[in-house]
Amino acid sequence: MVRNKLLQGVTIPRHIAIIMDGNGRWAKKRMLPRSVGHKHGMDRMIGLMEHAFDLGVQYITVYALSTENLKRPQEELDGLFALFRNNFREGLGKVCARGVRLRALGDVSLLPEDIVEELRMSEAETAQYEGRGINIAVCYGARDEIVHAVNKAIEKGEKVTEDSFADLLYTHDLPDPDLIIRTGKEVRLSNFLLYQAAYSELYFSQKMFPEFSDKDLDKAIVDFSKRTRRFGKTDEQLS
Ligand code: FPP
Repeated sequence: MVRNKLLQGVTIPRHIAIIMDGNGRWAKKRMLPRSVGHKHGMDRMIGLMEHAFDLGVQYITVYALSTENLKRPQEELDGLFALFRNNFREGLGKVCARGVRLRALGDVSLLPEDIVEELRMSEAETAQYEGRGINIAVCYGARDEIVHAVNKAIEKGEKVTEDSFADLLYTHDLPDPDLIIRTGKEVRLSNFLLYQAAYSELYFSQKMFPEFSDKDLDKAIVDFSKRTRRFGKTDEQLS
């Protein structure tokens, strides 16, 4: 585990989720096409994953494409799909080679068939790895996830508990995120992990995602480690 000075004695979150916002604005400011922003975003995503695993983070979930993003102009979607096709295997393969399991979270059936195959193949190839994972939320929407889960429960004809309901979500075998980071200045969750975020610590960065550095991640983790997570209890109960 590589710890720099800033992170000495700091609690490392087990599961970090990231809303990678601001690729488009980053590109616009530089008079570049949005697709270039997404490419830089993808490169940064890989860099952050490697850094986070170096620090001892176990799970990283990234919001790569929301159900609402699917309504973006076809040209932009095609650019994102091209990124998947051309850079996905190489970039994420490098991360997974460290013994990291890849999971896709979302209604992937909405993606082009070849991409679904690619995702399923990567999931199968890494399924044997335990303890560390990257989760790509793609064609993901929390409301959609909850509705899917409710329908599964109805099909089973069983009453649910909080735990049995969580088992019906896309994230069924993952711990809830300890820390959710959103870049790009907006202060909202945008339909991301709404059920799982009940007790997540939230961190909002002014930086656009392509410029969110490893050091910025360290700062978010330091901020996280200063929070008191009471999970509804009192301070006295915690001590
Ligand atoms: C939000 O920025 C970002 C997205 C909709 C896509 C994020 C995708 C990546 C970083 C890379 C793709 C990942 C894979 C696995 C291929 P925005 O476009 O909404 O930015 P804006 O708010 O500035 O317009």
